[in-house]
Amino acid sequence: MIVLGIESSCDETAAALVRDGHEVLSSVISSQISKHAQFGGVVPELAAREHLKNITPVVTTALAEAGVAKENLDAIAVTSRPGLVPALLVGNAYAKGLAASLGIPIVGMNHFLGHIYGAFIEHREILEDSSNFPLVALVVSGGHTAIVLIPADGKAVILGSTLDDAAGEALDKAAKLMGLPYPGGPVIDKLSKEGNPAAFNFPRSLTGRAGKAVNPEHRFDFSFSGVKTSLLYTVTQHPELLPARVADLAASFQEAVMDVLTMKAMDAVRHSGAKLLCLCGGVACNSCLRTKVEEACRKRRVAFLPAPPKYCTDNAAMIGGLAWHYLRGTDPHAEAATFGINARLEPTLGLLPFAPLASRG
Ligand code: KG4
Ligand code: ZN
Repeated sequence: MIVLGIESSCDETAAALVRDGHEVLSSVISSQISKHAQFGGVVPELAAREHLKNITPVVTTALAEAGVAKENLDAIAVTSRPGLVPALLVGNAYAKGLAASLGIPIVGMNHFLGHIYGAFIEHREILEDSSNFPLVALVVSGGHTAIVLIPADGKAVILGSTLDDAAGEALDKAAKLMGLPYPGGPVIDKLSKEGNPAAFNFPRSLTGRAGKAVNPEHRFDFSFSGVKTSLLYTVTQHPELLPARVADLAASFQEAVMDVLTMKAMDAVRHSGAKLLCLCGGVACNSCLRTKVEEACRKRRVAFLPAPPKYCTDNAAMIGGLAWHYLRGTDPHAEAATFGINARLEPTLGLLPFAPLASRG
């Protein structure tokens, strides 16, 4: 089954052709970053207009690169939520029109689940072995920061999520405070390599440090507003630090954020007895985070599955791939069937169709 995946939830217009959930025939991404950089963040109306311009060429290129005629598509999958509504509408309207003209099924995909699936596209064998479950997913992007427990029955639960900023959002805003370009995450990652991560001691929120036990209800939750405020006070009270010590500031800020992500993810692994930890979403590209989590997993003898960088940031292969697990018809609870772009991410994710593959026949 060949599925055309379409992604337009934020500032990437993407299309991919994926055969049977795991064989990526093409994955085309048109990024609008340069258009939004001057505003220091994504402007929804501008994003929608750019998607309108890009969607046809991106889909046409994805079909051409895969060498597949649109008449040979079996289905279309489109990110339906969560995301910027004006941006989502472009992909959804386009996908509905194309599906209607070709007379093929269309399914709306949850972008957050798509990010988790990004770690498994190239690893079908992991899904086929139920001994890998339960597993924990650390989902870190510009819009989400959450720890998800995925047991062998696929009934995934969000153990914790951010109470304020997402990790990527905090990095992007921190970069702005330091006068660095958008998006800040990759810039901070690169700059940190020249800085000292111990130069400034930024707070590790909700970790129970400073002699205080963290409230049990926030054990797996995150908060990044405090670390951001701490950076703000540091640079406003000591203007001489910029640009002179920008690399030290970036490295110390990054260290604080990645420390908390690693600590909480590993706590979730211990708590749940997970066999595998997967790392996904745009911030999963971060070299400091990948190293920290990998090392922590090695120490604990837990398998580590980082999504490949090309499937960490927004892409349509994760959408077209995930869709196959719903479309092959073994999951009557398909979340994909709920096609609402305004629906919130529920605390319980429901039955995940890809966990684990083997027991679903
Ligand atoms: O998953 P994604 O492409 O879009 C959302 O769904 O949000 O993630 C984008 C986020 C941005 O905040 C960006 O700064 C961050 O991922 N990011 C990184 C790195 N590459 C992208 N953050 C830290 N280190 C990186 N190397
Ligand atoms: Zn995303």
